[in-house]
Amino acid sequence: MSKRRIVVTGANRGIGLELVRSFVGLGHSVYGTARNPDASEDLKAAGASGILPLDVSDPESITTFGTELAETTDAIDLLVNNAGVGSVSFGAEGAAVGIDVVDPAVITQVFEVNSLGPLLVTRALMPLLQAGSDAIVCNISSQLGSMVVGAGIGDVPYNVSKAALNMITVKYANAHPEITFVAVHPGWVQTDMGGADASLTPPESASAIAETLMGLTQEDSGRFLNWNGTEHPW
Ligand SMILES: NC(=O)c1ccc[n+]([C@@H]2O[C@H](COP(=O)([O-])OP(=O)(O)OC[C@H]3O[C@@H](n4cnc5c(N)ncnc54)[C@H](OP(=O)(O)O)[C@@H]3O)[C@@H](O)[C@H]2O)c1
Repeated sequence: MSKRRIVVTGANRGIGLELVRSFVGLGHSVYGTARNPDASEDLKAAGASGILPLDVSDPESITTFGTELAETTDAIDLLVNNAGVGSVSFGAEGAAVGIDVVDPAVITQVFEVNSLGPLLVTRALMPLLQAGSDAIVCNISSQLGSMVVGAGIGDVPYNVSKAALNMITVKYANAHPEITFVAVHPGWVQTDMGGADASLTPPESASAIAETLMGLTQEDSGRFLNWNGTEHPW
């Protein structure tokens, strides 16, 4: 397998950190992003080729990140839009995130991170992706963004934001046939977001996602997949 140039957003903890470890372990060049690189000790220890600051909810930060990355590498072969939040990050949970009562401000805040963030990060990196070899964009979605699975579970801002991310994935796939775009549900994973009772460890999820992504072809563009490469219902 040839060495790939990879970007993972939200790489300082959770699934993102473990994806960096998996890709570095496979011999790839990995750039990890963090809102606060100076405090990202685990990411520093993971052997990334570079750690760049990025807040995906801040368009200015995204522009600066795109510029800095272009000064570091002339192409990207794989972008993993992993950074994400639930409503609890904005102080809303339980009954407060139901469809009849949810605060519109929380919907907007979660949407900015989970939906607009990946859209704008992808846009900022488009020239680098177009210069890449068989480039792939993986949007880390969720089963909770599925119309089939998410109707009865999850918090509304998160459900809505991941459903939007799924649509953003297929819109990009349609607009850019030269790049392979997929939405990936990482499984229910033991992270700060997934909690201790989740069914998969971060290494189990990340290594399976890495294997799935390395096996993709352009024919897969526009698909919604599970971490292990099986089809996820929309
Ligand atoms: N865990 C699960 O069971 C599960 C299931 C389905 C989908 N997912 C998805 O998988 C992805 C990773 O989740 P996780 O479980 O690893 O969550 P996590 O442990 O809570 O980590 C979230 C990551 O996103 C970053 N982040 C949050 N807001 C950001 C922003 N505005 N700009 C840049 N980075 C930001 C965090 O950085 P800070 O440290 O700075 O906050 C952190 O690196 C998310 O997209 C999530 O929706 C997770």
